[in-house]
Amino acid sequence: MLHQSDMLQGVANFPKTFLVYYIIFFMPDKEKAIQTIASVIGMDSFRDVSIQNGNKVVFNLLLDDPQNTDKKTQIIKELETKLKAAGFKELDVYTTQKAGGHKPLGGLQGRGELAPKAPVPGIKNIIAINSGKGGVGKSTCSVNIAIALKQLGYKVGVLDADITGPNVHLMLGITEKPHVTEDRKVMSLEAYGVRLISMGTLVDENKPTIWRGPMLDGVIKQFLRDVEWGELDYLVIDLPPGTSDAQLTICQNVPLSGTVIVTTPQDVALLDAKKGLTMFQNMKVPVIGIIENMSFFSCPHCNERSEIFSHGGGRKAAESLGVNFLGEIPIELKVRSGGDEGKPITVVDPEHVISKAFLKIAGAIVESCSKNLSEVN
Ligand SMILES: Nc1ncnc2c1ncn2[C@@H]1O[C@H](COP(=O)(O)OP(=O)(O)OP(=O)(O)O)[C@@H](O)[C@H]1O
Ligand SMILES: [Mg+2]
Repeated sequence: MLHQSDMLQGVANFPKTFLVYYIIFFMPDKEKAIQTIASVIGMDSFRDVSIQNGNKVVFNLLLDDPQNTDKKTQIIKELETKLKAAGFKELDVYTTQKAGGHKPLGGLQGRGELAPKAPVPGIKNIIAINSGKGGVGKSTCSVNIAIALKQLGYKVGVLDADITGPNVHLMLGITEKPHVTEDRKVMSLEAYGVRLISMGTLVDENKPTIWRGPMLDGVIKQFLRDVEWGELDYLVIDLPPGTSDAQLTICQNVPLSGTVIVTTPQDVALLDAKKGLTMFQNMKVPVIGIIENMSFFSCPHCNERSEIFSHGGGRKAAESLGVNFLGEIPIELKVRSGGDEGKPITVVDPEHVISKAFLKIAGAIVESCSKNLSEVN
């Protein structure tokens, strides 16, 4: 019998172009459309993608000069060809002017104009924790990286951008609800010296949050700009899995200092991690590096090491993609129980080898941010 991992191994031997088509073919429709559009015009030049009747792609094309009809026609033609090749039948594009671009005569601004990625007052560095695949340990890493940054002496906050499946508040042991200040800002909460905002602290945990793309977009922007964060050196954003609405909103609206990719070592997770990485690279967001989580398991009784999800794929992927490898986090009972009980390993056992690994990762993040800053200046 041919296993999925064998299939993927086979695919890994394909030439690069085949691999790109393979990845696109198996994506959900909206992600497929987003990636296809981005491959033609880059991530910064469109927004509000939706799929209608299963095969019609509708989106807002942002142009420097919407009155340049030749350019517009050429782009739309290329988009049509690529989207048809990706399996879509129709394309409906409305164009608006990109912020900072050439203003149309008469001064009319189109709807949906992109606001520039304005700095968030009081927040020095914003880091997105990302993966393509779900369940690989993004939230666990976000929480422990935030605490490790705090242990290095920085002022830190975590924004849980997983609006429909929030859990960072539980991992930090926070059950209270935030209060609203007189100037109608939501006060961020605090645990272990780390500030937090999560949808999980605002809604009834037993009711599912069923929100559509534009609504998610609005909440994430509000979390960033309408929450009282105080002064922060680092805001860690824990992203939901995938390369869709939340990732686009963050990339298009947040002045990110960098992203950290979390993956487990096996091929299926690595393919998704690469997809996430490409999206952030296309948006010119610095990739700080890759973490291999659930890297191996050492039996606490006999010390025998088992590589449950394989091993070393994160390091190899980092090398082949030319980004930093930030470290391996093994499977460890204290990490899982710490997440469930709201007592992160970095707090309850700071001398543990995993806590030390998170400190090292935090150090690499600080180094990357200060390097990027000095390059800008
Ligand atoms: N190194 C580890 N050792 C043991 N358990 C771990 C480890 N990393 C994560 N876990 C556990 O795996 C589960 C999934 O982790 P987590 O919620 O952090 O993943 P995620 O990538 O944020 O998931 P989602 O995509 O759903 O947001 C949690 O129960 C967490 O405690
Ligand atoms: Mg998560």
